[in-house]
Amino acid sequence: MSPTLLSVRGLTTSFATPEGEVRAVNDVTFDLKPGETVGVVGESGSGKSQLFMSIMGLLAGNGRATGSVRFRGKEILGLPAPALNRIRGEKISMIFQDPMTSLNPYLKVSAQMVEVLRLHKGMDKAAARARAVEMLDLVRIPEARRRLDMYPHEFSGGMRQRVMIAMALLCRPDLLIADEPTTALDVTVQAAILDLMADLKREFDTSIILITHDLGVIAGLADRVMVMYAGRVIETGDVRDIFAKPGHPYTRALLRSMPRIDSDTLEELPTIPGQPPNLQHLPVGCNFQDRCLFRFDRCVVEDPALLPIDPALGLARAKACHLEHSPEAYSPEVRR
Ligand SMILES: Nc1ncnc2c1ncn2[C@@H]1O[C@H](COP(=O)(O)OP(=O)(O)O)[C@@H](O)[C@H]1O
Ligand SMILES: [Mg+2]
Repeated sequence: MSPTLLSVRGLTTSFATPEGEVRAVNDVTFDLKPGETVGVVGESGSGKSQLFMSIMGLLAGNGRATGSVRFRGKEILGLPAPALNRIRGEKISMIFQDPMTSLNPYLKVSAQMVEVLRLHKGMDKAAARARAVEMLDLVRIPEARRRLDMYPHEFSGGMRQRVMIAMALLCRPDLLIADEPTTALDVTVQAAILDLMADLKREFDTSIILITHDLGVIAGLADRVMVMYAGRVIETGDVRDIFAKPGHPYTRALLRSMPRIDSDTLEELPTIPGQPPNLQHLPVGCNFQDRCLFRFDRCVVEDPALLPIDPALGLARAKACHLEHSPEAYSPEVRR
């Protein structure tokens, strides 16, 4: 068995608000192997970002995470800031939709990259500059040597995203967590960044967690997929399996609402009718019941646990749904 890089058990994250407790992440369990790329998908508000903010120890002051997060076997949930700082940036890096959350607008890119390398790797300035140029080359920023001394605002949106990726990879982390890294970019720039990430994955064998609301982004890059709904993982599986045989009606609905490149007519995309449940008042039974075309008696009384679809694969191929088969197996008459 290959070793586990990241092992998450029963992670639950709640926020205290004036209106009561918001449970943003609900009993999430998964493992990540070295070199593996996992896509995390779900609609906006499904808890994707807060799951990984919890893992990184970056929750807002009103948030609290319980459960266990082991990185290379060592518990990191609730570690004090100095210990977390040694892991963040060096072993685990996180990038965001907006590069300016990671880049300091008042400092030249060179100063920011050199600082990271001096702090984490103890490099002298000349060596750090050389490595920084190497990284900018690697993320295909033209004229890297000259651009190293530019300020973040002097780069275009796509180039700034490349700078952020270069910063994130400076210390050769074991794990890169990318939270909607291409969502703000137009389609061609988005494709170029995803290509770049695929190349970097091959080159460094970095594990990647790719968070997105867009299944299309995941298709080309991820090995495995975790689908989230209302703070829970409701389906997991190999990427091809998820696309070919979605087991949960929500996953199926997500796939149906994906833009198709092979379609020559501009049809309106089917969106999933209804809204996710209020996280302060989760329903009895399945969280997806109000929007589900396949709901039956059991769904409104019993919350479905995440259980293996294929017993041989365990939680690597699982769904949280009372339906025995994937929705395709049900004829239209069975639907409500
Ligand atoms: N500081 C906070 N206080 C209260 N609720 C929060 C806070 N931060 C996030 N949330 C709530 O947590 C839920 C999950 O958010 P998030 O993880 O950002 O979703 P996603 O990344 O899937 O779009 C949302 O309902 C959001 O409003
Ligand atoms: Mg998010």
